[in-house]
Amino acid sequence: MAAEPSGTLRADTQAELWAAGCAACHATGGGEGGFPALAGRDASELLELLLRQRAGAADSTIMHQHARGFSEAELARISAVFAAQRRP
Ligand code: HEC
Repeated sequence: MAAEPSGTLRADTQAELWAAGCAACHATGGGEGGFPALAGRDASELLELLLRQRAGAADSTIMHQHARGFSEAELARISAVFAAQRRP
């Protein structure tokens, strides 16, 4: 049987790769070094924060640059990856 190209049961590998880039600063499950922790937080809260940063509406030093690199749908997928992680 052929593999499903994008079955709903498959993990969102692409979003996990994107999230790995965020983890360089946000330390995946941690919040050390002054970067806000993302793991285990509500996905809609994370998406809302990211969209505000993307729009330049949030108090941001560098995060708006990162948020601008993704579409809203992509940011929603990344938010889901962090929401599914265990809270530190
Ligand atoms: C170069 C370091 C860096 C990278 C990479 C980075 N961030 Fe951030 N992030 C920050 C900093 C610093 C802040 C605090 C706001 C500011 O000063 O820009 C922040 C804030 C946030 C916030 C708001 C948290 C809160 O509680 O207010 C979210 C959500 C967030 N980042 C998500 C992400 C996601 C998702 C990615 C990957 C697409 C990412 N960040 C990549 C440094 C980074």
